[in-house]
Amino acid sequence: MQLRALVGRHCTNLSYFCPSVKNEVNLGDKVFVPYLSGEKIGHAVKSVADKINSDYKGKNPLFLVVLNGAFLFAADLLRSIEVDCEVSFVKFSSYEGISTTGKVKELIGLNESLEGRDVIIVEDIVDTGTTIVQMMADLDQRHTASVKIATLLFKPEAYKKEIKIDYAGLEIPNAFIVGYGLDYNGLGRNLKDIYVIKS
Ligand code: IMP
Ligand code: MG
Repeated sequence: MQLRALVGRHCTNLSYFCPSVKNEVNLGDKVFVPYLSGEKIGHAVKSVADKINSDYKGKNPLFLVVLNGAFLFAADLLRSIEVDCEVSFVKFSSYEGISTTGKVKELIGLNESLEGRDVIIVEDIVDTGTTIVQMMADLDQRHTASVKIATLLFKPEAYKKEIKIDYAGLEIPNAFIVGYGLDYNGLGRNLKDIYVIKS
């Protein structure tokens, strides 16, 4: 999709309406332009929280936040969750072992039992779905009561897997974005708004 169409779809001239939004952001060797305002992100987060609040009434879900990218989404999401809940943080090790099926990353940080728990995976973005498949493969062995997936952003054109994405804040085209937790080579996670790469 053309950048003009992509940007226009969500926020042409964002910086005009919202002066705190930068026109362009330089991160390393790449330039990014405004794509989703903090306000629009806030509405998407609230829509996910509303659905979870309604689906988990009377339950005590355990949110499993996938670091690093989901840290801001998780912080804002959890502030809008009104059912009793618990939170835990996991990460995929940067070490890549080799198995017969290819490269495997190990899920680290999970110290508690998930037996009988209603788990909600919290992701920043689901792209090809590889990460979600790895998460599910790990959780499959832990005797959970249920597992659902909540992601702020979802790229349906890139998604190659069968697993259902239960809660997606916004569907976006297949382009590289940064901000609100998402990074380019470690940079840009601190941006309040989301920016798309300028081609
Ligand atoms: P997947 O395994 O291909 O679904 O990708 C999941 C992970 O890749 C996300 O949790 C992000 O950390 C990262 N990722 C995917 N798309 C983007 C993007 O557009 N910008 C920054 N990171 C991304
Ligand atoms: Mg992630």
